[in-house]
Amino acid sequence: MNTQDGKIALITGGSRGLGRSMALHLARQGTGVILTYRSNRTEADAVVAEIAKLGGRAASLQLDTAIVAGFDEFIARLRETLTKTWGRDRFNFLVNNAGVGVHASFAETSEVQFDELMNVHLKGVFFLTQKLLPLIVDGGRIVNVSSGLARFSLPGYAAYASMKGAIEVLTKYLAKELGARKITVNVLAPGAIETDFGGGQVRDNSEVNRFVAANTALGRAGLPDDIGGAIAMLLSPDGGWITGQRIEASGGMFL
Ligand SMILES: NC(=O)c1ccc[n+]([C@@H]2O[C@H](COP(=O)([O-])OP(=O)(O)OC[C@H]3O[C@@H](n4cnc5c(N)ncnc54)[C@H](OP(=O)(O)O)[C@@H]3O)[C@@H](O)[C@H]2O)c1
Repeated sequence: MNTQDGKIALITGGSRGLGRSMALHLARQGTGVILTYRSNRTEADAVVAEIAKLGGRAASLQLDTAIVAGFDEFIARLRETLTKTWGRDRFNFLVNNAGVGVHASFAETSEVQFDELMNVHLKGVFFLTQKLLPLIVDGGRIVNVSSGLARFSLPGYAAYASMKGAIEVLTKYLAKELGARKITVNVLAPGAIETDFGGGQVRDNSEVNRFVAANTALGRAGLPDDIGGAIAMLLSPDGGWITGQRIEASGGMFL
């Protein structure tokens, strides 16, 4: 049953991994999807084609969320896509998902690594959301993707997790300020999931995978569909009274 006909979601980093699964889950609920990619156009187009096969409607746009100077031009292309594909000038759901992993001990983290993580996970989320506000409908929803690593600490993620912690704080402020427009804002924090993220460690390194499974209540590492499903649940019509919250989807990591 399509419960979300007429709704449109913008998912950053929707070409692979978690964003791809989110796009497919939302499309199955009847939501139109605009997904962005940074460099991997072929994979982005493949997701768009898969959604079309499901009978849904989707489009892909290039965007580097770490470069604020490119946002105005992106928004012009987004407006064109909304008009051309949906005959609309605004959308309903924003999922700030795009991101990269950098593994370095606190002692060895360089300023370049810090800035890369800050730009994509914090500054980009802050200013992209700010610039998109006029395009989000009143009553819309925003989800910021954080990480289990903002709740528990593992060596090597000091800079990454600090940025994720910052968007968790930002989420509460957005929920408060955008409440006047009935826009909900929440954090979805995945645990360790088998994707290309961080060089595909959780998926491809059996030692890491076993470590994650051993420290997870449900006894395995996460899969992209665990997160695609969680987003679809959060953005379903019944999720409208949840705002300013951090929802962790980790199968119970480090409880
Ligand atoms: N996987 C995990 O274990 C895990 C756990 C907790 C949180 N997360 C978070 O979940 C989100 C998605 O991770 P994932 O596992 O799906 O990673 P992934 O499989 O590596 O996919 C990353 C996606 O983000 C895009 N992207 C990367 N840098 C970008 C940039 N500067 N501008 C725009 N798009 C960019 C990529 O586009 P291209 O394909 O064009 O490169 C791709 O679509 C991230 O925010 C990550 O921090 C992941």
